[in-house]
Amino acid sequence: MTAIQKLILICSAALVLLVGCDSSLDALPTPTPVDVALQRLNQPTATTEPQQSAPAAGGESSDPETVFTGAGCIACHAITDDAPPGVGPSMVGLVDFATEVIKSPDYTGKATTVEEYIRESILDPTIYLVPDYQPVMPTTYKDTLSEEQISQLTEYLLTFK
Ligand code: HEC
Repeated sequence: MTAIQKLILICSAALVLLVGCDSSLDALPTPTPVDVALQRLNQPTATTEPQQSAPAAGGESSDPETVFTGAGCIACHAITDDAPPGVGPSMVGLVDFATEVIKSPDYTGKATTVEEYIRESILDPTIYLVPDYQPVMPTTYKDTLSEEQISQLTEYLLTFK
């Protein structure tokens, strides 16, 4: 019986301590109006930050340039005139180039339109090699990119007239 009494004593002592801690924690912010004011000041910034990142996240999925960058294409392909030559051909002038290529007797692919050519270049890069370039473009995009991403990339690259 004494052991149980001790236990009860210890437990109630612990409870008193816990309650004491809780009330002292509760008591801390309330007596300082400065803290409350600072908290209020901080709250708007805390809510605007997630708001700012939310449209950015939404833009990421719909912005085709982000798909191009995110898929790693940018590592080998320039998308501006002033960019240094890359491992792969610049995308500037791609539509004109592709228009000529698919009419050329040297063309070894199956595309009959520029859109098909771009799609084919992503899905099966070695079916036709752009002259003066090595066959180093990854052949794995057909497995790693979703149909939506491939469509977004194709639409994006169709703007490189
Ligand atoms: C490791 C470098 C590398 C990466 C990464 C890469 N490519 Fe390429 N790409 C090349 C090379 C080199 C060629 C030219 C040789 C060929 O035709 O395969 C090429 C050719 C192309 C062509 C045909 C260009 C033309 O002028 O006819 C297109 C379109 C293309 N790539 C799109 C992409 C897209 C989209 C991605 C990302 C999903 C990508 N590439 C990623 C290296 C790369």
